[in-house]
Amino acid sequence: CGIVGYIGHRDAYPIIIKGLQRLEYRGYDSAGIVLFNGEDTNSSKTKGKVEDLKNKAENTISTEGKLGLGHTRWATHGVPNDVNSHPHYSNSGDLVIIHNGIIENYESIKKELIKRGYTFQSDTDTEVLVNLIEEVKKKESVKLGKAVQIALNQVVGAYAIAVFDRNKPDEIVVAKLGSPLAIGIGDNEYFIASDASPFIEFTNNAVYLEDEEMAIVRIGKEIKLRKIKDDAIAYPNILELQLNLEEIEKGGYEHFMLKEIYEQPRAILDTYRGRLLADQGIIKMAGIDQNLEKFLNANRIIIVACGTSWHAGLVAEYIFEDLARIPVEVEYASEFRYRNPVITENDVLIAISQSGETADTLAAIKLAKERGAFVFGVCNVVGSSIARETDAGAYTHAGPEIGVASTKAFTTQITVLTLIALKLAQEKGTFSQSKYHEYLTELESIPSKVEKTLQSNSIVEQISEIYKDSTNCLYLGRGYNFPVALEGALKLKEISYIHAEGYPAAEMKHGPIALIDEQMPVIVIATKKGHYEKVVSNIQEIKSRNGRIIAVVTEGDETVKELADHVIEVPETSEGLSPLLTTIPLQLLSYHIAVMRGCNVDQPRNLAKSVTVE
Ligand code: G6P
Repeated sequence: CGIVGYIGHRDAYPIIIKGLQRLEYRGYDSAGIVLFNGEDTNSSKTKGKVEDLKNKAENTISTEGKLGLGHTRWATHGVPNDVNSHPHYSNSGDLVIIHNGIIENYESIKKELIKRGYTFQSDTDTEVLVNLIEEVKKKESVKLGKAVQIALNQVVGAYAIAVFDRNKPDEIVVAKLGSPLAIGIGDNEYFIASDASPFIEFTNNAVYLEDEEMAIVRIGKEIKLRKIKDDAIAYPNILELQLNLEEIEKGGYEHFMLKEIYEQPRAILDTYRGRLLADQGIIKMAGIDQNLEKFLNANRIIIVACGTSWHAGLVAEYIFEDLARIPVEVEYASEFRYRNPVITENDVLIAISQSGETADTLAAIKLAKERGAFVFGVCNVVGSSIARETDAGAYTHAGPEIGVASTKAFTTQITVLTLIALKLAQEKGTFSQSKYHEYLTELESIPSKVEKTLQSNSIVEQISEIYKDSTNCLYLGRGYNFPVALEGALKLKEISYIHAEGYPAAEMKHGPIALIDEQMPVIVIATKKGHYEKVVSNIQEIKSRNGRIIAVVTEGDETVKELADHVIEVPETSEGLSPLLTTIPLQLLSYHIAVMRGCNVDQPRNLAKSVTVE
């Protein structure tokens, strides 16, 4: 799931190992490296972490070389093991490749190559690709760049690749379709990576490849960019990056996830900074202002997303319908793209994605655009594929989110979507002036209320100690806090591997109630404004079946305190903004339980931060 490469005057090995560590947040199950010292290639690969690779490489191979490629792999074809890890060599041993993504038609190509005498060590699509490149190179008598281009025109799928030829020690060829790829430009040296974090300490200048572009990166020469399909020359757009290295390191916290949970007051503030002018009663958002008619004339809004971002979409459904009276449908991007959905030119599609790289969300956007809908993106990663593919958008400005389990991305997505809903409500006149102003002021107070909510950390830690060995957990909420229940359950599942389910509180009767016994912790969001009495009756139903109740309540609540085993207080706020507070203790709960169970919080097994394959 991560690519790093180097060619230049320094030793490639330390740059690549450090770079792979920076990309660890993307999630992976094996890692590999190859170094080229001008004569020999030396490679090492292993199942496990970059640290394992480092140990193995340093004990088994020469790590010399001014050219190198490194890779972390998240298994798509073939189980995670040493053989299936990258890099992969062509049969002659001359070409070496690393690859992210999936080659869909690899089996038919493989058959063809086998007929021509090729043999394969691994089960991967990548080894097929490097041999296809070799075959083209031989058959057509072309150079590496041309061979890569011809080969890529024969494959179906998604990729970011880096490949070199042992006979060409000063050159790496890279190409991209679907998976991200950036080239860092140093002083007579080049860096290659899935994002800029591996090379940010060496250079601020980078080129992001567009889909269907390839580049020949050669020492002493400028980058040569080409379109893979029609061979047209493309001109590199060299960006000056503003990413700060400190931001992507842990800053004193034990885990990125905890750091990111604690960053939420600042992240939410950064999200509305310059957009929310509460004293003037104004919301300024360029992406909305410039496309206001599209939103005001929309028959409906379709929201597409995956995972946590999909939960933010569900919260947004409540906000948009409640405030702006626009019908909203929220869809899993993966379902939407494959079910021939009804989309018209009067629909607005909002795609939500932290990474801006999720393959299914990207495909849903393309489909909606083809059918004439206006597509708006809510992304965190600036310059990401989704940010570039959408007609307009708004960034969340949460800063880099490294923990695989999303936290601050969720609350900042909700903040952006709330701003949009408020702005549309104001334009449409669906909301009274006084309520509108109240909402703006309340939103401004959210960062300090989140800060206060974070003070519940030690109570949450004590509760976690009691329930850390549970095997099942139920999360209940109603209205705006129903999606929060789903998100709370997802967080626990993702990082502690405890089975958890989120439900609308009233639906409990239609199934999950059968599971309740004295072993079962039930986390109930029971804040004052959201159908409070109804939730209190649900709590009574759980109690009469001896369930253990952990309730998230509004400060000063007495009724639920009587009934619940534990309460966690959050400050009072308007119902529509309550998810921004009620989510916090649920994030902390899953964090502490996962730590206590000895789980790898920042990189949970089998999960990836950026899912660039479908
Ligand atoms: C992965 C991550 C989740 C994330 C989801 C959607 O599954 O592990 O944390 O919510 O992808 O990612 P996106 O970047 O599109 O928000």
